[in-house]
Amino acid sequence: MTSDDPIAWLNGEFLPRGEARISPMDRGFLFGDSIYEVIPVYQGVPFRLDEHLDRLKRSLDAISLPEPHSREEWKAMLSGLIEHNGGGNLAVYLQISRGVAPKRDHAFPDPAVEPTVFATTSPVEPPAADHPDRAEGVAVITLDDIRWSRCDIKTTALLANVLLRQQAAREGAVEAVLLRDGFATEGAASNLFIVRDGRVVTPPNSHLILPGITRDLVVELCREHELPVEEREISEAELREADEIWLTSSTREVVPVTRLNARAVGDGQPGPLWKTLARHYVNFKRKLCGL
Ligand code: PDD
Repeated sequence: MTSDDPIAWLNGEFLPRGEARISPMDRGFLFGDSIYEVIPVYQGVPFRLDEHLDRLKRSLDAISLPEPHSREEWKAMLSGLIEHNGGGNLAVYLQISRGVAPKRDHAFPDPAVEPTVFATTSPVEPPAADHPDRAEGVAVITLDDIRWSRCDIKTTALLANVLLRQQAAREGAVEAVLLRDGFATEGAASNLFIVRDGRVVTPPNSHLILPGITRDLVVELCREHELPVEEREISEAELREADEIWLTSSTREVVPVTRLNARAVGDGQPGPLWKTLARHYVNFKRKLCGL
């Protein structure tokens, strides 16, 4: 195994990823008729695995795709995958599509076909304290949220997210913060928090955002450590006037935003509440993964 050709899992079999083959008639390829998860692994231990598998089940239910494996089977497959790839710090990508139908037809195949199940890993380094993203914070831009109205489903149909993130990259920003009807929803691939007058605020879970596993954990950690936290809508004006802005995701954890549309957020440095929360996050990870 090398990181160039990791061991992947396709439809019940471990194999070098370079040898994995999927039909062009797969509905994931043709229609984006598929869902996915990204699960962080620290020192070989999957982080918040039950929460990720719960969300996987909710995504499957939302697209009426029967869950192809039991919880025990998922866990056994994932621990095999992690072991095959040397343990350590990884991001597991798991995708399930509605499978390969004999002809291209928008409606579901009848009779149903076997779903395609694919899992792979990539090495990730947990963000170090001296990484520029954490020491200096990152730049973001705001863009109109042009996505559909079921953003709660973790689907691979990500064209809007791809175009939004690419526009951010073109403008030298790491993320696009999305605005819908005068309110901030989330990032193209992350959830959003602001701090205003010592209170942490994040939009409520709804069909307008992905219910992020990292988001939920950050809310939990705020409550546990008595940082005032509110789950409510964030207006565009509040976003622009925020003292701090954070983005959360499984691969990037909690990232401080210090420039919004090329203007400083607060004093232009990662803020005090972010520093407190980031410390609680690292401690939680240590406890959970026995680091
Ligand atoms: N994306 N919102 C969107 C639109 C996302 O795509 C993601 C994650 C999140 C954060 O969710 P979580 O904390 O569960 O990772 C929020 C993953 C990492 C991706 O697509 O690669």
